[in-house]
Amino acid sequence: MSNILLITSSPRLESHSTKVARSLAGQLALRAPNSTVAHRDLTREPLPHIDDSFATGRALPVDQLTPAQKEVLAISDNLLKEVFAADTIIIAAGMINFGIPSNLKAYIDYIVRPGVAFRYTEKGPEGLIKGKKAYLVLARGGIYSEGPMQQFNFQDTYLRAALSLMGVTDIEVITIEGVAFGPEAADRAVSAAMDKVAALAA
Ligand SMILES: Cc1cc2nc3c(=O)[nH]c(=O)nc-3n(C[C@H](O)[C@H](O)[C@H](O)COP(=O)(O)O)c2cc1C
Repeated sequence: MSNILLITSSPRLESHSTKVARSLAGQLALRAPNSTVAHRDLTREPLPHIDDSFATGRALPVDQLTPAQKEVLAISDNLLKEVFAADTIIIAAGMINFGIPSNLKAYIDYIVRPGVAFRYTEKGPEGLIKGKKAYLVLARGGIYSEGPMQQFNFQDTYLRAALSLMGVTDIEVITIEGVAFGPEAADRAVSAAMDKVAALAA
């Protein structure tokens, strides 16, 4: 049995990252009997951006929170509950201006929560979300895995940093690159990603 949390974030209806990530979730679920897939669709159900109540309340004890802080932290609690309930987390994202879609950034801002997702120790931050496997399914118009654009890839570098701060360090990346170089290049990139999905889920 596996509890899979699928997080999709593409603004595009014909999203490559969503398609490949859905397939991965389905194949991983088939691999273990009684698996569940919870889908957090950040495009259909966008989160509000964090605000002052969140920024001032995120590290306070519950008994010190104002009603406005409690309300906004309930969003974070709910998202974190989903994350803790999962043993496998799949994050699908297209590259938007060298980084991740803003709805996924808002999601990360809610879950990277001191005292819940990580804590500060004398040796530095310690992640509290342990024992999870994460898959990043990342689509890009250009090529960033090699060549001159590599230095502008803030997509997996950012997600790896945020996840590892929270203790999620077992991360597999599936890239769908060069989709802007025409329909044939896009088909090839999706097909290569699907092959990798099949191999990972085998
Ligand atoms: C607003 C916008 C900005 C984008 N910025 C970049 C970029 O900086 N680099 C890149 O390689 N592709 C960029 N793209 C192309 C997308 O990464 C590409 O279409 C990818 O397939 C999107 O993921 P999706 O198919 O899951 O929607 C951009 C696309 C849009 C719509």
